[in-house]
Amino acid sequence: MANFKTLDDLGDIKGKRALVRVDLNVPMADGRVSDATRLKAIIPTVSELADKGAKILLLAHFGRPKGAKHSELSLSMIVEKLSEILNKEVMFVAEMAGPVVQQSVEILADGDVAVLENSRFNAGEESNDIALAKAVAANGDFYVNDAFSAAHRAHVTTAGLAHLLPSYAGRTMEAELKALNIALGAPQHPVAAVVGGAKVSSKLDVLQHLVTKVDHLIIGGGMANTFLAARGIKVGKSLCEHDLTDTAEEILEAADAANCTVHLPYDVVVAKEFRANPPVRTVNVHEVGEDDMILDVGPAAVEALADVLKICKTLVWNGPMGAFEIEPFDMATVSLARTAAALTKEGSLLSVAGGGDTVAALAHAGAKDDFTFVSTAGGAFLEWMEGKDLPGVQALEI
Ligand code: 3PG
Repeated sequence: MANFKTLDDLGDIKGKRALVRVDLNVPMADGRVSDATRLKAIIPTVSELADKGAKILLLAHFGRPKGAKHSELSLSMIVEKLSEILNKEVMFVAEMAGPVVQQSVEILADGDVAVLENSRFNAGEESNDIALAKAVAANGDFYVNDAFSAAHRAHVTTAGLAHLLPSYAGRTMEAELKALNIALGAPQHPVAAVVGGAKVSSKLDVLQHLVTKVDHLIIGGGMANTFLAARGIKVGKSLCEHDLTDTAEEILEAADAANCTVHLPYDVVVAKEFRANPPVRTVNVHEVGEDDMILDVGPAAVEALADVLKICKTLVWNGPMGAFEIEPFDMATVSLARTAAALTKEGSLLSVAGGGDTVAALAHAGAKDDFTFVSTAGGAFLEWMEGKDLPGVQALEI
């Protein structure tokens, strides 16, 4: 694993200005934070820096305003919730750089926290503009990146600042990098990967990379249909990217060459309508009717997949096995997630999961807390699964 400095390497930081990149990109409903997971993730780093007497300036993006100010994407909207979660007052500063920030820092006491306005209100953020980076760096003595979930972006606040100031990985970033390294960098074999979700096209690079890394690749969700079609199976009206069957076939061939066993469902749950609790049938994949939609992996396949997990030592999971948001098509995801959670609890499996839908699916299964590590990252987790170097992580390397 690449080497990087952590908060353990900080000397005396009393009174020093810490520029801390966090991920405050939280979902909102009716103007309020509807899921505070990412806010909670910053507690260890912020508390530690505050206890050591640093003046903490939080940097973050919110949505995709593309360099323009949009009041509905102001980070002022999350300050109240953040303050509640950190259990301390949080000052809001309406700029990310310049004299307004400088004056605000001057009135901060040691251990105080301020959140600077949405980094993406600045045109230079996403282009990693050096002048903007210097202007932000001018208000800090050191830089901490605690936002793994934004580390796939080479922006001023995720990468640029690391080249201008002494840089450290925050506690959540550190934990994330360690867990991911244990899962795919230097894992204990056999390794299984569960990859689900709607479309093969969104996860081609993930699949291509994983077949060279894991011993068992379990494919579920809508994307399994494209693989079944590639194998000549008729999938009726199921979601299927017929134009990608050749690509799917190439992935299956690459898996064979790399000694990776690909597991596709052999029984499936089908319905004629996509709605909650319609009439359903569980059928062999060869019995899918012309007007059927495959909406979940069947119970016989799930049982066989549970047996695969039982012989594995490491599991990486991204994406649901079926249309889990709608009952009863959550069955395969729930059942396999519970098996993985139980094996993890017993100590026979190290399990790492990530990606937006995945976290929701594991939470729905009541399995999330028993996984070894669940990443709050979406795109960054996928790029990591693709084997890519993440600019935000690279910038911290020493
Ligand atoms: C996320 O929500 O996954 C991160 O905050 C990154 O957001 P982005 O995809 O807009 O860069």
